[in-house]
Amino acid sequence: MKKDILNRKDIVVLVDRFYDKVKQDERIGPFFNEVVKVNWTKHLEAMYNFWENVVFHTGNYEGNPMSKHQAMHQKRPMRMEHFSQWLSLFNETVNEHFQGKNAEAIKQRASSIGTVMQVKLFG
Ligand code: HEM
Repeated sequence: MKKDILNRKDIVVLVDRFYDKVKQDERIGPFFNEVVKVNWTKHLEAMYNFWENVVFHTGNYEGNPMSKHQAMHQKRPMRMEHFSQWLSLFNETVNEHFQGKNAEAIKQRASSIGTVMQVKLFG
């Protein structure tokens, strides 16, 4: 039986496995590899902090995801299908490794953050 997401170590596993998929994804990979050319060390560290804060309220994420996505959207417009692909890879990764209350909560949070972003980007 799979375990729940219990600590930062679990968040690191989830985030690393998720971006392994994202990097190789032909629909959303190019946003990371071409549009932004992310520094993966920095990006992964920011994402560990972001999700750790979402699940465990650690207060250790300082950043503005919306402005980063806005800037990216100016360079290459994102569409609904990018968000659904992002979410489906995220949910798939959670389900492959974890199950439980926090595993359900993190999928819910990803989905609602994604909805807010789309409303702000697409109106
Ligand atoms: C659906 C829910 C999504 C969530 C919760 C989310 C969350 C985040 C967060 C927290 C950051 C880090 C900002 C920082 O550095 O502090 C980020 C960055 C980024 N996201 Fe998303 N994102 C989502 C969707 C997407 C989609 C659909 C794409 C592209 C198709 C995308 C591409 C990126 C890229 C390229 C960066 C790096 C931006 C930069 O460093 O300038 N994201 N995202």
